[in-house]
Amino acid sequence: MAQAGRLGRMRLPWQNVLCVCVCAVRVHLLSACKSGCESDPLGDGFVKRVGSELVDEGDKKFRFASINAPNLHRVEVEPKPAECSLRKCSVEEWVRAPSEYEIRDTLCSIRQMGASVTRIYTFSYGDGPGFHVNRDGVLNEAWFRVFDQMLAIARDVGVRLIVPLINTNWIEGWGSVYEYGDWANEAGYSFFRSQSQRAMFKATIELILNRNNSLTGRRYADDSSILAWELGNELTDDEFHGFPVPVEWTRDVARHIRKFDRNHLLMDGGFFSTQVLAVTEIDIVGSGWRIMPNRI
Ligand SMILES: *[C@@H]1O[C@H](CO)[C@@H](O)[C@H](O)[C@H]1NC(C)=O
Repeated sequence: MAQAGRLGRMRLPWQNVLCVCVCAVRVHLLSACKSGCESDPLGDGFVKRVGSELVDEGDKKFRFASINAPNLHRVEVEPKPAECSLRKCSVEEWVRAPSEYEIRDTLCSIRQMGASVTRIYTFSYGDGPGFHVNRDGVLNEAWFRVFDQMLAIARDVGVRLIVPLINTNWIEGWGSVYEYGDWANEAGYSFFRSQSQRAMFKATIELILNRNNSLTGRRYADDSSILAWELGNELTDDEFHGFPVPVEWTRDVARHIRKFDRNHLLMDGGFFSTQVLAVTEIDIVGSGWRIMPNRI
C-alpha cells in the first residue's frame, strides 16, 4: 500500500501510457460484450480419449480449465420468494427457464475467459411442470426445449458442456435419485441396489440420448456441443457421501449409454474411487473436494 502511494505521488510518465493501454482494452471488451460475442461455431467432431489424454477432432491435445455454470439450463430465483418460508411454494414459483440472453451472456463470458468447456448442473427430477424428468421417467418437453436452445447457443459460441445426468442428494427444486425410489415404490436410499430403479433410469437415459433437438435437428447423442455425459453429480452409495457407487452399477450404466452414443466422453460422477479406474467405458474420473464433518 505504502509503496503504491509513493508511486502515485511521483506520477511516473509511464503510468499515463499504461492507463491509455488499459482504456483501449476496455473499449475493445465493451464492444465485444455489446454484441454478445463473436459466433465461433463448433465443428461436428468430438473430443476423444487416447490413452490418458484427450484430443480434439484435429488430433490435437485437448486440455481445459474452467468454471461451472450451474444455472445455464434452469435458473433458481434467488432469494427464494419470502412467502416460501411461510408456506411450501411449488417449484414453478421460484425456478424459471433462462432467457436466450442469459444463456448467451454466460457462455460468452466463459469464452472470453479463454475457456472452451463448462459444466452445468443436473437434469431435474420430480412430479409436475417444474422438472425435466417427470414421474416414471417421462421427459418434460417444455424444459427440454430450453435445453435444446442452450445446446444450440453453446454450439454457436463454441463452448462444450459437461452434463451430469442426476443428483445424489435430494435438493429442493432439483430432485435426485430419490425420485426413482418413489416412482418404483421402493423406500429409502435404494437407487444403486434396485434393478427396477436402474431399468427406469436407463430408459430415461435412452430417451435423452435419442432426443432430436427441436432447433438444430441433431440427436443429443450426435451433438458435439456436449463434451461428456457425467453419470451424475457427487454420486455415492449413501446419502452422506461415505461409500462409492458400486462399480458394477457404473460399468452397467456406462455400457448402456455406449449402446446409443459412441461419440461422447463418459465421466463417472463419483467422488474419487480407485475402483472406477478399472471401468474401461469411463473416460474421465472425477473427484469432488469439499469440507465435510467426516472427511475432506
Ligand atoms: C429423430 O429424427 C430421426 C431422423 O429424422 C428419426 O428417424 C427419429 O425417429 C427421431 N427420433 C425421435 C425420438 O423422434
